[in-house]
Amino acid sequence: MRILVLADIHSNWPALAAIQEPFDACLFVGDLVDYGADPVPCVNWVRKHASVAVRGNHDHAVAQRIPVKKDNGLHRLAAATRPLHWKLLSPSQMKYLVRLPVTRRVTLDGKRFYLVHATPRDPFDEYLRDDKAEWSERLQAIDADFVLVGHTHLPYCLSLDRATVINPGSVGQPRDGDPRCAYAIIENGRVELRRVTYDITATLKQMRNSGIDEDTLALAEAVLKSGGRMESADLERWTKHVNALPETRDPTADQSSIDPSLVMTEPSVNDTEVLPLLPTNGADDQTEEFVLPPKPDNLADTVALELPPAKVPHRE
Ligand SMILES: [Fe+2]
Repeated sequence: MRILVLADIHSNWPALAAIQEPFDACLFVGDLVDYGADPVPCVNWVRKHASVAVRGNHDHAVAQRIPVKKDNGLHRLAAATRPLHWKLLSPSQMKYLVRLPVTRRVTLDGKRFYLVHATPRDPFDEYLRDDKAEWSERLQAIDADFVLVGHTHLPYCLSLDRATVINPGSVGQPRDGDPRCAYAIIENGRVELRRVTYDITATLKQMRNSGIDEDTLALAEAVLKSGGRMESADLERWTKHVNALPETRDPTADQSSIDPSLVMTEPSVNDTEVLPLLPTNGADDQTEEFVLPPKPDNLADTVALELPPAKVPHRE
């Protein structure tokens, strides 16, 4: 069985559409929306193709209509794009986001998978890199062969005594210095972290057409083209825009002098004003033994990834 693992799509349709992998099952570990300007085809695709999906902090914030209160770093990008999501997403799509469970356990091909966006300790906010000791501590109560996570936008595969932790990296906003879209394939227990180039210009054009202001577009361009490495030269352009720095500022100045508040960190759900919750219908922490139905012998082992047309996102 060939399993496609996706995380952190962030409304970046050209990035998602660039993944042309055959798969038997798709597992999605959260952050379908925010940051990008093309949520409709992304939500439609995941609804149609993901066998199992969990909610990320951005899905939660969009679905619960939580406004962004800060205006630094990535908060600015979320602040510019979130209201657009509320305009573009249909009630049915919003309901899909709000009903996504926080964690899921599934069994596929005899392997037990545990899905959570950030960590079991804090499913929305904890930012944990590929630290074996830290992950071993988090997994003490988790019985699984594979633990699938996202949130950091950094791809890794950690083999621990209790489980293999896989972060496929981010589809729509990589932050490991490689701007290509990231995902993972698990086949017969073997894990492969993969990358594919996508049309970043198309993503930015779509954002501009959606009415995103030029300063925020400059930030999005810096983030996407540098693969999330804000020390890139583009950061200078963005900081100049946002902070209205004097023209005399030395553009070759040491990047370490940049205000740490401008360095990218993931906006926390707790940083935002919490409005009354929409009902989740008890969908959190669902546990399910998920087994794919057997295929007739005359069908291929894998099914092709069917992507809706990029230019004409369909609505429900
Ligand atoms: Fe994310």
